[in-house]
Amino acid sequence: TKVNWYPPKIPNRFNQCTIKVRMVQWPPFVINVPNGSWSGPPRSSRGIEISLLDLVAEFANVRMFYHHDQVPDNWGNVYGNGTITGNLKYLYQEIDDIAIGAYAISMKRCLVFDAVSYHKHEKLIFYVPFQTLNSKLTSLGEIMGFGALVLTLFLYLVVTTMSWLVSRHDYTHYQKFDTCAFETYQILLGLSVSLQPRSTKVRFFIAMLIIYSFYVVTAYQTLLTSTLANASTKQEISTIEDILD
Ligand SMILES: *[C@@H]1O[C@H](CO)[C@@H](O)[C@H](O)[C@H]1NC(C)=O
Ligand SMILES: *[C@@H]1O[C@H](CO)[C@@H](O)[C@H](O)[C@H]1NC(C)=O
Repeated sequence: TKVNWYPPKIPNRFNQCTIKVRMVQWPPFVINVPNGSWSGPPRSSRGIEISLLDLVAEFANVRMFYHHDQVPDNWGNVYGNGTITGNLKYLYQEIDDIAIGAYAISMKRCLVFDAVSYHKHEKLIFYVPFQTLNSKLTSLGEIMGFGALVLTLFLYLVVTTMSWLVSRHDYTHYQKFDTCAFETYQILLGLSVSLQPRSTKVRFFIAMLIIYSFYVVTAYQTLLTSTLANASTKQEISTIEDILD
């Protein structure tokens, strides 16, 4: 904005020189611009290309005259045999200075016209990563379920207490609460214990715990494996705001 790059070619003063712009009404590039209107302060509601030309006009001190043909959508084209049609023909004959309305650059057009690519709007593609996260692995309680955790704790305490209470004829190991609790804890984890109980009453409660822990450990390991194997992904970019952010 501070540097005048080509002073002989582009002087600072154009004195509101008129530039004739032939447009094709084609949103979002040109939106409802009245035939025969002039450039004004840039407003986004008139389309991308009109906004840019309004800006250029303001900058270079020229004024754009926007008009369109009676034939709607009269873009025109350049053919291999040299034929030029539509609005491009007016441009070629220098009746107009600029043609706008979502023109694409092609090789044949480039041989005849200068194309200014301001924005590769329709070819600009965002490739964005998917964020991988194991959202299910946030806590143990979420894998097992809070109820199962409480039930396990409750059963463990009940079995430990009951085994301890009825262990009068068993090993002293089971007669003391702390070693009994240690033993039942090992059983709960599915580990082997050094001293199996010998009295029927204690065996009953220990058997209960063995059966329960077998199911819980199996279920827990299954859930854990499936949770680890199932990486849940979330699309990181899904709105225009996300892209701009
Ligand atoms: C737009 O205005 C021009 C004159 O500036 C006229 O030749 C042309 O026919 C008009 N187009 C339409 C669609 O009315
Ligand atoms: C040039 O080619 C176009 C399309 O292939 C055709 O419509 C047109 O008649 C041709 N013009 C001449 C002069 O051969």
